[in-house]
Amino acid sequence: ALQACLFDLDGVIVDTAQYHYIAWRELAQRYGFDLTLEQNELLKGIGRMESLDIILKLGEVDLPMEERVVQATIKNERYLELCQQIVPSDALPGVHDFLKELQDNDIKIGLGSASKNAPLILERLQMTPVFEALIDGNRVTKGKPDPQVFLLGAQELGVDPAATIVFEDALAGVQAGNAAGMKTVGIGQVDVLSEADMVLPGFEALQLASLTEALGFERI
Ligand code: G6P
Ligand code: MG
Repeated sequence: ALQACLFDLDGVIVDTAQYHYIAWRELAQRYGFDLTLEQNELLKGIGRMESLDIILKLGEVDLPMEERVVQATIKNERYLELCQQIVPSDALPGVHDFLKELQDNDIKIGLGSASKNAPLILERLQMTPVFEALIDGNRVTKGKPDPQVFLLGAQELGVDPAATIVFEDALAGVQAGNAAGMKTVGIGQVDVLSEADMVLPGFEALQLASLTEALGFERI
């Protein structure tokens, strides 16, 4: 039966993707090119420095390491400035109800995010106590699609990866969950997330019983 659920943060619990996009786009514009929403899709779930490298490649800009670190820092400061507007009611629709249902059924809850800012965002949402395991960008050496972030989460929760569901809005994250041997639920569009075991538009009206049945878990 299902033992745990691991959640990505950005784009699953809260829509911070819009703030990442604003801050990355401003960086691109400083170098004279634009970053489209479609290109931004490639950056979801991808760590900060790796994202920067992808953006610079898109703009055909070559920067020494030192300057890349400076630019990543500026981007992060801008991102954090934008994140100051996050309030508890910004948790995406249905998230709180679904987490409550997990708690009521003794399903463990963990976070698996590439973001080094994850603890801070959870604080702003007043959701820190919900997560029994918190794996973020400060704790992993390999980014998604490597399964490390989710395997660490399962290990810390003391659960079997095969009895775990991963919720992800990014293709790289779905691939990481699959590589970890977990069931994956894509949150977003089917065309982007077709590698997931199941794709949902969001958590609204999601029932644990129908979810576990659809994913082939034994009744709780
Ligand atoms: C998440 C987001 C990415 C972001 C990454 C690192 O995975 O989807 O867009 O680049 O975290 O975030 P950070 O807050 O550490 O820069
Ligand atoms: Mg995400």
